[in-house]
Amino acid sequence: MTSSSNSPQAHGADEIPSLYGPGKNVKRVRTRHLIEAKERGEKWAMLTSYDMYTAALFDEAGIPALLVGDSAANNVYGYETTLQVSVDELVPLVAAVARSTERTLVIADMPFGSYESGPVQALETAVRFMKAGAHAVKLEGGRRMAEQIRALTNAGIPVMGHIGFTPQSEHAVGGYRVQGRDAQAAEVEADAHAVAEAGAFAVVLEMVTASVAAEITKQLPIPTVGIGAGPDTDAQVLVWQDMAGLRRGRPQRFVKRYAEVADVLQDAAKAFADEVRAGEFPTKAHSFE
Ligand code: KIV
Repeated sequence: MTSSSNSPQAHGADEIPSLYGPGKNVKRVRTRHLIEAKERGEKWAMLTSYDMYTAALFDEAGIPALLVGDSAANNVYGYETTLQVSVDELVPLVAAVARSTERTLVIADMPFGSYESGPVQALETAVRFMKAGAHAVKLEGGRRMAEQIRALTNAGIPVMGHIGFTPQSEHAVGGYRVQGRDAQAAEVEADAHAVAEAGAFAVVLEMVTASVAAEITKQLPIPTVGIGAGPDTDAQVLVWQDMAGLRRGRPQRFVKRYAEVADVLQDAAKAFADEVRAGEFPTKAHSFE
């Protein structure tokens, strides 16, 4: 890669993003590398991952941060909402992703009910994820979670905040609603500052108006990671099944599909079944003498 590390560059499909690039000597992406990327004006991408194959593929693709999201609820476990998934269900996924990657920073999402009671509960949960192999944890909430974020960072556990629309509070918020319009802008900004001041190394801005997200990104010293928050955040995150088109149906407005994996997989399954029915598989080449 030829890009200077002092200027943001567009990368070709076969180039490695510079967080991973030559001369970086980055064995494992650390939170400080993401903060340094912001200082250089270098944008980066985060994806969710919940299993060994996608984790290894995304790691090799140069995705510097993987989130084992509580979105495993709807993307792995078949629950209707993220409220239903437990720490016990997420810990093995975190362990699998951590075991299958070499360079990406693995972030474990703290599920609903595992940190809201206070710093002690938050610390107990975060310790379970760190022992499973996570390098950081994520939790939802701004000012109301500052104490938990402070406790975890004081204990040496890097925390990614998550503000704006927070799916774990969807019933209190009144459904999936864009945050930051009109008078609400000041609330979202106050949450962003509270999270950064409490010690978070980055913050997810979910379904926040693009102008408020841009302003927060300018004001904060830590990276902002947008999902439905416009083009001006420092990083972007998508759920991988949305990004790759494994999940069918109409995606949310903020999703861009980069592939149609569902079609590829279903075509493969149909072709296999057709060949079995026709007696065309297995052949001699697939058999033992
Ligand atoms: O769990 C998740 O996938 C998330 C991202 C959408 C940020 O929290």
